[in-house]
Amino acid sequence: MTTARTPASRNLLDPGFELTLRPMRYPAFYERYRDAIRNTWTVEEVDLHSDVADLAKLSPGEQHLIGRLVAFFATGDSIVANNLVLTLYKHINSPEARLYLSRQLFEEAVHVQFYLTLLDTYLPDPDERAAAFDAVENIDSIREKARFCFKWMAAFEGGEGVKPIERLESRADRRRFLLNLICFAACIEGLFFYGAFAYVYWFRSRGLLHGLATGTNWVFRDESMHMSFAFDVVDTVRQEEPELFDDELRRQIEEMLEEAVEAELLFARDLCGEGLPGMNTESMREYLRCVADQRLVRLGFPARYGARNPFSFMELQNVQELTNFFERRASAYQVAVEGSVSFDDDF
Ligand SMILES: [Fe+2]
Ligand SMILES: [Fe+2]
Repeated sequence: MTTARTPASRNLLDPGFELTLRPMRYPAFYERYRDAIRNTWTVEEVDLHSDVADLAKLSPGEQHLIGRLVAFFATGDSIVANNLVLTLYKHINSPEARLYLSRQLFEEAVHVQFYLTLLDTYLPDPDERAAAFDAVENIDSIREKARFCFKWMAAFEGGEGVKPIERLESRADRRRFLLNLICFAACIEGLFFYGAFAYVYWFRSRGLLHGLATGTNWVFRDESMHMSFAFDVVDTVRQEEPELFDDELRRQIEEMLEEAVEAELLFARDLCGEGLPGMNTESMREYLRCVADQRLVRLGFPARYGARNPFSFMELQNVQELTNFFERRASAYQVAVEGSVSFDDDF
């Protein structure tokens, strides 16, 4: 076993199971863990009752959209949690980063529980509910997004004919890992989920589905933090091993994001059909390209699309959510919240 602070374990991605917290090599990761603890919420705090009455008011097109959206939510966070355990926790060799990842795993479990509760409430019919949970198998647009995730997990998950990467020994292994990390942060948490949140806030902007919007506020905040942590890991690796970040990696990241935008657009076409008032495939394309540009810029690459956010209801999202969150903490628990939280690159 590789022990602490030997020359072979000086970098974050060097294989091993570093245990030493003092002296702390990556205090910023520990601070992220502490910030996350201050951000605890439970599913029981979300009241979905008024949503049931709202669902009955929706047009057939809107009902189709919400059915597909919750079907995506049924499995999205479980996929992220699996990758966290099987890839990220295994290969990010720092006990303070692993503290953060342990906390993130708990948050993903809360998200899974939230969407389980949501589907139980929204889909009372057992057959419809079962079909939603099986969406990765039976709904093309959702299967395509899952396929995209599994493709970038394959090198670490193993499977038929694929031997999983157990240790990040070679430069190629480390680049594989970076692509996995960036895929989950920039494309899945940072693009697929951001796409999904936009539909929720479109409903909210019309006074509908407040329970879903409340839970989404807290999930959104968690996802922003997960993404920021992952990008901090990328920055650290870039400082330690700048040679990994060459034109080839950049090209792969750009292609990956483009593929993610296409997969999310397929989903948008399925959800929006011929278009709904204020929500259609065209505006979703512009929004996704704008989000993809933000991810590229945060990763230190030039923007690719030059797109602008067409959804005014997303612009104030983080500010509004942050205010609600701290008001809720103060009124519900009288917990003093200290420190500041910044959303580096998000809306
Ligand atoms: Fe999540
Ligand atoms: Fe997440």
